[in-house]
Amino acid sequence: MADWHRVCDPSEIPLGTGKEITVQDRVLAVFRTDDAFHVLDGICPHAGGPLGAGTLTGSIVTCPWHGWQFDVTTGQHCLSQQICQPSFPVKVEADGLYVELP
Ligand code: FES
Repeated sequence: MADWHRVCDPSEIPLGTGKEITVQDRVLAVFRTDDAFHVLDGICPHAGGPLGAGTLTGSIVTCPWHGWQFDVTTGQHCLSQQICQPSFPVKVEADGLYVELP
């Protein structure tokens, strides 16, 4: 059953950046774009790199290890339709940013 879990205070993720945060033993990559927060599985499917430490340009994150790129709004790999990083619903409440994990 899916549950909502507090991730952090929204102020911890400045606009145009990302951060790696572990919630419920799961490594997440949390990003803040112009219009919203987005949460992906934080472990790059290529070789396990830290997506949360990647560079965010618009809605595209570039993995710091070998440069794979993903759309943080969907998890879709930018070059391969076969690769889609898991993404999770996110919401902002009065006391923080929350993610819904399965
Ligand atoms: S580990 Fe992310 S591109 Fe290789």
